[in-house]
Amino acid sequence: MDDINRLDPLPDVVFHTGDLVHNGNAAKYQIAARILGGLRCPLHVAVGNRDDRAIIRSTFAAGRDLLSDTPFVQFSVDRYPVRLIALDTLSETTNMGEFCDIRANGLRAALAEDGAKPTALFMHHPPFEICESKYRWQFDSLDGIERLRQALEGQSHVLRAFCGHAHRYAEGKIAGVPVTSTPSVAIDLRLGTVPDGAQSAPLYQIHRFDARSGFTSEIRVAP
Ligand SMILES: [Fe+2]
Repeated sequence: MDDINRLDPLPDVVFHTGDLVHNGNAAKYQIAARILGGLRCPLHVAVGNRDDRAIIRSTFAAGRDLLSDTPFVQFSVDRYPVRLIALDTLSETTNMGEFCDIRANGLRAALAEDGAKPTALFMHHPPFEICESKYRWQFDSLDGIERLRQALEGQSHVLRAFCGHAHRYAEGKIAGVPVTSTPSVAIDLRLGTVPDGAQSAPLYQIHRFDARSGFTSEIRVAP
């Protein structure tokens, strides 16, 4: 957070891709909210399998709710040149990902609202195969991934998707959309290869959007 706050220029927004706390405990969220309240830019949180949907919804800014009459936390942030959509990939029964018809139809309806505006998705579970992971597929079944793929099919204004959960950096695609997972901020939970000098330092990703070139991304080592 200190490193983010020192960036010049400051990021327009910080997006946490889920598992903000380990066990969904209300007291832990109070600590997280107090710490994150020191960020000098807006924060949004996409829910992870360790999270409590209701607390995330009530504690952190959620943009425009896309599924307000359901328990699912999907929302759209429309104030930037690129539209930011948070997807809910939680399973009711496991720590793995799921994407049901309600969530897929919510995404489909949201994308249909503006088929021209560049759009980025933020979601916890990576919807692609990570061969070096203990869990090659991070969804309950391939059906959820297929529902997401169908919702994204032909949506050429969706430029990127950003994920968490895997604890490692990985790249994939779904319906032609490039997808990456971010390495864990916490050094004791991190998997995979990390940049030089990052073994004992927090990591995060910076994504820059340009209307002509799309996204440029880098992994930042917080000194
Ligand atoms: Fe997770």
